[in-house]
Amino acid sequence: MSNKIRIAIIGAGSISELHLQSYRNNPRAELAAICDLNETRAQAKAEKYGIPHVYTDYRELLSRPDIDAVSICTWNNGHAPISIAALDAGKHVLCEKPLCKTVEEALAVEQAVRRSGKTLQVGFVRRYAANTRIVKQFADNGELGDIYYAKASCIRRLGNPGGWFSDIERSGGGPLIDVGVHVIDLCWYMMGRPKVKSVSGNTYRRLGNRSNIKNLAFYKAADYDAGHNDVEDLANALIRFENGASLLVDVSFTLHAKEDELTVKLYGEKGGVELEPKLAIITERHDTILNIVPQINNLSFDFASGFQDEIDYFIEVCQGTKETISPVEDGVEMMKLLCGIYESAARGAEIQF
Ligand SMILES: NC(=O)c1ccc[n+]([C@@H]2O[C@H](COP(=O)([O-])OP(=O)(O)OC[C@H]3O[C@@H](n4cnc5c(N)ncnc54)[C@H](O)[C@@H]3O)[C@@H](O)[C@H]2O)c1
Repeated sequence: MSNKIRIAIIGAGSISELHLQSYRNNPRAELAAICDLNETRAQAKAEKYGIPHVYTDYRELLSRPDIDAVSICTWNNGHAPISIAALDAGKHVLCEKPLCKTVEEALAVEQAVRRSGKTLQVGFVRRYAANTRIVKQFADNGELGDIYYAKASCIRRLGNPGGWFSDIERSGGGPLIDVGVHVIDLCWYMMGRPKVKSVSGNTYRRLGNRSNIKNLAFYKAADYDAGHNDVEDLANALIRFENGASLLVDVSFTLHAKEDELTVKLYGEKGGVELEPKLAIITERHDTILNIVPQINNLSFDFASGFQDEIDYFIEVCQGTKETISPVEDGVEMMKLLCGIYESAARGAEIQF
């Protein structure tokens, strides 16, 4: 009997490729089944990766007793119902970010984790990347001191992926829930996951998706369609934590910015860190300020190795040798934060937690 972890992939679009590659590279994983509403798409991946079973209905897939764990790579509106069904069917779950669309859904997923005894790992892939792990080690050893301020931007001057991403029913929102979730989570995780006290947010829909723009490529949904767009194109927020720390963030799908920007910066009493765009640690020794550059393969997030690290970790979770570092509870907190920002923007007022 093989003691490999038998994996199924649900959702065979763009991001599934990184999951598939990473499982294929892991000798303790076996790709056993794949599912997509679009059968041709699922079939194509099945052929490419030698996956024996193809489904268009995830419930049928989940009824297979020989599947140990699933990766959920569907539109955001599928995350909660599929996670709950998978957990109730006794599977471990790696669910792509965001955990879901609403706080109510998040709490329902958390309950399913509790009653099933299975693990749900939220796809906060950046937590697993080398640059994050290094900084976390420094932070956990007190080398940054108390982190009291963080600042993150994920600005696309042109990059509304269209299709389901720009349909609020299926996505739950625009750049805030799509890319903001990564940078907000990174800061919050590095800060030691402090309790949120209040959020004040703004969202804007001023530029539309700018599908008129020519000669500039950007990330697109597998079923790209620019015809429908009811998500924000810019969001910003100031988040206050109970320990007095604060986080300032802005994210866009499009903005009249000179260039794209990805920055994640943390400031502590003993030192600072730039996690993105390039890892640097800032500190002081003998009355001199030092900018330290760790000598590592990738000074910024690298997709292929980040996903490999996340999935290798997930396989160990499935084998029972590790506990996930991105548990459902953190997915729930992140949904409270994101939904709080949307609520604050809609009300035009700060939200107290
Ligand atoms: N971690 C990251 O850096 C990262 C990057 C991109 C996307 N994502 C996340 O991955 C998910 C998928 O994004 P994508 O870019 O691959 O989108 P995509 O549109 O390229 O692919 C989504 C696929 O899911 C399928 N699907 C939707 N609902 C389904 C259902 N109920 N059952 C079966 N199949 C279903 C669609 O047919 C489509 O093929 C999203 O939640 C997104 O937020 C994460």
